[in-house]
Amino acid sequence: MPAPAGPSVDFWQERFESQRTPWDRGAVNPALEPLIAQGLLPAGARVLVPGCGAGHEVVRLAAAGCRAVAVDYAPAAVGLTRARLAQAGLDAEVVEADLLDWAPPAPVEAIWEQACLCALHPDHWGAYARRLAAWLVPGGALVLLAVQVERDGRREGRIEGPPYHCDINAVRALFPSDLWDWPRPPYPRQAHPAGFAELQIVLKRTRA
Ligand SMILES: C[S@@+](CC[C@H](N)C(=O)[O-])C[C@H]1O[C@@H](n2cnc3c(N)ncnc32)[C@H](O)[C@@H]1O
Repeated sequence: MPAPAGPSVDFWQERFESQRTPWDRGAVNPALEPLIAQGLLPAGARVLVPGCGAGHEVVRLAAAGCRAVAVDYAPAAVGLTRARLAQAGLDAEVVEADLLDWAPPAPVEAIWEQACLCALHPDHWGAYARRLAAWLVPGGALVLLAVQVERDGRREGRIEGPPYHCDINAVRALFPSDLWDWPRPPYPRQAHPAGFAELQIVLKRTRA
């Protein structure tokens, strides 16, 4: 059987161990604060953070009173997130699991999806997007920070990553409007210190 496409857990674990984690801005994503202020991620809401990495956003969500559930399959990421929570004196559920196998025990009210989709090889995007849809309650919010990264190879037809570029047309295809309520474009785009950009799209799971 061929190996699954894209990076493995060992790839990510090694990145954390060697501290080659350019995606980690060392702070909470500035896009989170306005969404908390708007009440999109209210206290008490169960908010899933897939591919939580070092856990900055998990800590902020826990501080806002959310019942955060952080998932990552790299033991180092789980350890960093737990340590960050302990240092802040905050509580969240931190699960070591492969998101392509795992499912929450019950649907959640919101998902903070920051650069996890774009960490997965595009071969997995369809299955992952269907899982995200299944994990949210009707009316639940998906905050997607989709990595925009220009590379010569991509223009030449190569699939390069991680991070794997996920433009608005790909997002549109992965999260179709029969399952998701879409806001009108344009969508906010912010620069990341590592040189790429994040497109922020807030989708709501349709009420069936
Ligand atoms: C690019 S990093 C982003 C981390 C964090 N969201 C951030 O923006 O700082 C991708 C993270 O997703 C995790 N990850 C990748 N594939 C995964 C999978 N199949 N299951 C669980 N975690 C995964 C990696 O271990 C890594 O921590």
